[in-house]
Amino acid sequence: MFGLTGVAFAALFQALGIGLFISGSYGAPAYVYPMHVHLSYGETDMQMVVTWTTYNSTDSVVEFGSTYLSNVVKGQVTKFFDANDTNRIWYIHRVTLQDLKPGMKYYYHCGSDQGWSDLFFFTNRRTDINWAPWIAAFGDMGSVNGRSIPRLQEEVAKGTIDVILHVGDFAYDLDSNGGAMGDAFMQQIESIAGYVPYMATVGNHENAMNFSHYKQRFSMPGDNQGIFYSYNLGRIHFVSISTEVFYYTQYGTAQNETQYNWLKKDLEKANEPKNRERYPWIVVLGHRPMYCAIADTDDCDLVRDKVRVALEQLFYEQGVDLEIWAHEHEYERMYPMYNYTICKGSEAYPYKNPAAPVHIVTGSAGCQELHDTFLPQPKWVAKNVLDYGYTKLKAINATHLYLQQISDDKVIYLLLVNLLS
Ligand SMILES: [Fe+2]
Repeated sequence: MFGLTGVAFAALFQALGIGLFISGSYGAPAYVYPMHVHLSYGETDMQMVVTWTTYNSTDSVVEFGSTYLSNVVKGQVTKFFDANDTNRIWYIHRVTLQDLKPGMKYYYHCGSDQGWSDLFFFTNRRTDINWAPWIAAFGDMGSVNGRSIPRLQEEVAKGTIDVILHVGDFAYDLDSNGGAMGDAFMQQIESIAGYVPYMATVGNHENAMNFSHYKQRFSMPGDNQGIFYSYNLGRIHFVSISTEVFYYTQYGTAQNETQYNWLKKDLEKANEPKNRERYPWIVVLGHRPMYCAIADTDDCDLVRDKVRVALEQLFYEQGVDLEIWAHEHEYERMYPMYNYTICKGSEAYPYKNPAAPVHIVTGSAGCQELHDTFLPQPKWVAKNVLDYGYTKLKAINATHLYLQQISDDKVIYLLLVNLLS
């Protein structure tokens, strides 16, 4: 009636203190409400990082506390374009919560004075030597046919999982449909990742635009945009690496060497006596396996597998205990292996004091590519399962690391591996 433009309306509403923003002639919606809320570990055990997305620019604020939301922390926002669709813009918000107490439960919400998320909560990691968290590990989980998502949601809600390790290949893919598939996936996992840390390892399905969706959407420790990093949890030293540096060399031929040098230093430090005593288990997470018995003839079923050629010797020399891989859509547990040689602790107890690392492949959390096909089971494969599902592990103490394989098809498999250090 007064011929006000959308901009003038917005200015009027702002002047009146009404939290409504209008753009365009008819008031296009403003996407200022937090989406894709997820947690990840920070640099120290007193930190937790909260990451979320908005489609419009807002401030980045988390309000949190153990009884009420008495702490206010501001963070950073990164504007992110998809190079294939410059009309799509994401604002990725990252806030690091500091000075968290061991084992304390905290409530939080995130957003800004333009809109807040639901109320979430998490329990900060403990630092005492007796803490043995339940850790879920898997790879290759998509928006479509993400079979393990419901059980993971239920386990997290019931407190039977303390942290998630997603070992590459997200959403299928994070950048598909102009990023809409990634958005759907991040929303699907919010009911998991808003409550326990969701630690990411990069896979081949994240390769588009130099892994930019992966680097932007997740916030991992270290300064390498989540490509490689390490952290301690309970009695485990976790090391997450990129196996894609051996395949996507168009993004840099030095990245392999850069990662190797970092990895060698990290493992040498983890093996300093005081560190290995406190964190006796060293577990490596990488997407493409060194060993598998799968009929796809492109990587881990080749003796000259690139990851194995580059890294097996280092992991063997540095006393890595367990290597968790994915990429193949199935579950395989190997006997302790080095250079295609079985290194059992003994015939009766193959996993007791083994002379080489144990490998598992756990890439069956479910995606639109369904399952892979096993080759005839070689003698170095101790167990293989085609069911959808995920792995749970727990470092019970300095001498026992316990693994389960959970089936989302029918029954729960409990596949025990006892590793004695
Ligand atoms: Fe993969």
